[in-house]
Amino acid sequence: MLTPHTHSTNVKFSALVNRISGAGADAWLTHYQAVAARERGEDVIVLSVGDPDLDTPAPVVERAIGQLRGGDTHYVPAAGRPGLRQAIARAHAARCGQPVGPDNVVYLAGAQNALFVASLCLAGPGDEVVTFEPLYPTYPATIEVSGARLLRVRAAAGWRPDLAALASLITPRTRAIFWATPNNPSGVVLNDAELTVIAELARRHDLWLVSDEVYAGLAPGGRVPSLAARLPERVVTVGSLSKSHAMTGWRAGWLVGPRELAVHAEQLAMCMLFGLPGFIQEAAITALTLAPEAEERIRGLCAARQQRFASGIRDIPLLQAWAPEAGMFMLIDVSGTGLSGEEFMRALYASQRVSVMDGAAFGRSSEHCVRVCFAAEEATLDAACSRLRRFCADLARRA
Ligand SMILES: Cc1ncc(COP(=O)(O)O)c(C=O)c1O
Repeated sequence: MLTPHTHSTNVKFSALVNRISGAGADAWLTHYQAVAARERGEDVIVLSVGDPDLDTPAPVVERAIGQLRGGDTHYVPAAGRPGLRQAIARAHAARCGQPVGPDNVVYLAGAQNALFVASLCLAGPGDEVVTFEPLYPTYPATIEVSGARLLRVRAAAGWRPDLAALASLITPRTRAIFWATPNNPSGVVLNDAELTVIAELARRHDLWLVSDEVYAGLAPGGRVPSLAARLPERVVTVGSLSKSHAMTGWRAGWLVGPRELAVHAEQLAMCMLFGLPGFIQEAAITALTLAPEAEERIRGLCAARQQRFASGIRDIPLLQAWAPEAGMFMLIDVSGTGLSGEEFMRALYASQRVSVMDGAAFGRSSEHCVRVCFAAEEATLDAACSRLRRFCADLARRA
């Protein structure tokens, strides 16, 4: 095998490289091992990532192919095609009740890219950004890449944000609060009372609010309570087609916010991406026209699979599962096994070849848990439940 070249120690990397490495990146190592093993044809069950076990709707695929065949393979505007931005604006207005137009929208390479753009446009060195545990593992690097410092609010009972702790963390340096609703991994949907407290803090301290609603289509009725209509001057809504349409690999997402932010985001998109594929943008328009059916399909799948998985592990004495309000993930408290989430994840993979995610990847609040994605085939879920049962029985025997 070819040895990769190493760099001369005389040439330096920027300070940014330290801000994008670390625990968040390491959290995925067992998952990557499992995916590599599955690709080698080994008997591995991967429940460590939120990638719905469904195909992208056929009309979306057909539209992309038609566009490709028709020569839609050239440069496109950096903020996305006007027709797509209009379609996103319409979908956002219908979901959040905030009347917006295409000028409030920037189309980006998935919600992850939109979070990155929001982070760089809203905060920088010397600033602080607050987020809620449990938090999606890319948040720390995505927020700290800007140079801002990330502060985490520990979860209170039922994985809900501790709003008194939030208030106590806000200082004159605080620029923004980032959260995901429905939350990944807990499935908590922020309610109106919680949002009212957050809105009050944002007004009092002049903060940006970044609401990651990548799982909104999976919530009951395809919507979540939102502050976008109440505070249009400071709310940034992030979304994508990844989860609602089983389109994770298409990298189709967006942010919606005040016009001035959209201008800055467009400029960042220009120097970062210089536009995204036009044939995917046209397919994204098709996807948005099918949103009600697509979201209903994924909600139905998640509800059935959640039930199946929950009943499959219900009577495993050492495990306690938390039922999510929405989404495709479940946190399982493994403290009854005497193992931490990380130890459980590693030992389960080593002995049963089932890959789950260490709860510590989402912050200390969930380090006694693992996260499971239950949006998998029924037979896969059943096999995973049997292996979890065997693993816990072995642990109990040894104890
Ligand atoms: C909370 C949250 N935000 C953002 C993302 C990234 O989504 P996308 O595929 O649209 O980049 C994910 C993906 O799992 C997520 O769970």
